[in-house]
Amino acid sequence: MAVNLTVEQLKMKELISKTDSQQLYPFPSTRFQGSKYKITNWIWENVKDLEFNTVLDAFGGTGSVSHLFKNKGKQVTYNDILKFNFTIGKALIENNHEQLSKEEVDFIITKHNQLNYPTFIQDTFHNVFYLDEENQWLDYVVTNIKKLDNEYKQAIAWFALFQACIIKRPYNLFHRANLYVRTADVKRGFGNKTTWDKPFEEHFINFVKEANKAVFSNGTSCKSISYNALDVPNVEKYDLVYIDTPYISAKGVGTDYLDFYHFLEGMLDYDQWKERILEKYKHLPIEGRGTNEWTKKNKIYNAFDELFNKYSNSTLVVSYRSDGIPSEKEIIELLKKYKNNVIEVHSKDYQYALAHKKSSEILFIAK
Ligand SMILES: C[S@@+](CC[C@H](N)C(=O)[O-])C[C@H]1O[C@@H](n2cnc3c(N)ncnc32)[C@H](O)[C@@H]1O
Repeated sequence: MAVNLTVEQLKMKELISKTDSQQLYPFPSTRFQGSKYKITNWIWENVKDLEFNTVLDAFGGTGSVSHLFKNKGKQVTYNDILKFNFTIGKALIENNHEQLSKEEVDFIITKHNQLNYPTFIQDTFHNVFYLDEENQWLDYVVTNIKKLDNEYKQAIAWFALFQACIIKRPYNLFHRANLYVRTADVKRGFGNKTTWDKPFEEHFINFVKEANKAVFSNGTSCKSISYNALDVPNVEKYDLVYIDTPYISAKGVGTDYLDFYHFLEGMLDYDQWKERILEKYKHLPIEGRGTNEWTKKNKIYNAFDELFNKYSNSTLVVSYRSDGIPSEKEIIELLKKYKNNVIEVHSKDYQYALAHKKSSEILFIAK
């Protein structure tokens, strides 16, 4: 296919050819469940010879794989059903130039006397995830972020706030009201109390620095969108679709991202948060918990089938784990319904954050 490249793209191409499997712009560190950021070079080694210019990252998460493709000069569309992730996609994928300055960071982390700050987090989440003074910090920082008038600068600030919130949580999740894990006066054989107790402000500033370094233009127009992957419009425009669905373990336990990260989704919708909270649960999740087809073992076969059918005109690259439901064999059978050529590649062992035993990371490439 003949393509006319812009000057920026040509420059990028030249740089890429010099950097081989490395990424020119580093991806920020993250403790998000299931992130592939530690294995993006391995993914690239396995897909770099495929012919493609446009790519959809259908279950984008942290955006680490989208960012890899952006680094490699591809026109990337990042998608995730959760709005907090979509905002991360705005900050790190769609954003070509905007960074947060020191003055803007100072504005965000300062409590301004002339402003009348709401107190929703401190009123609602006492003793749930963070200490009282940390909840107060969150109330005014969220309010300050909403006052920024540039959507990409605002998205970087959200990104840094979300990562700071994740890193200060035991297990890096919001699935239990378990502040006591952090505060109990016990000898610990696990966890990272120093990280949990480090002030929000310090984490926030570090993550802004990391995000600023990840912002660049590759000369194409990259986008962040937020749909159920089964409803993404105009799919015929993607040469390649990267698929990294939530994982269901062999025991049938799914990964409910909304339940794991509801607190971040809530902060982003601060003014309506109250109406969305399910008060019957101690960890105060928001409605929608448990409704995702990718978390249910009796729905996931059909979901994969529908997904592969929907994107059957594109090259499919599927990240998978060797011990999940459906099995590797079943995934291959489903892919073969729609694609003639299916290749399976196993990585060296790859340990997931919460897994006790090692499971191997797989890529299915279907053309
Ligand atoms: C395994 S994670 C993706 C990790 C990502 N590749 C990374 O490197 O960070 C799965 C993602 O799918 C998103 N998700 C779950 N159900 C979805 C759906 N129906 N449509 C689109 N995204 C969905 C979750 O919010 C989560 O971020």
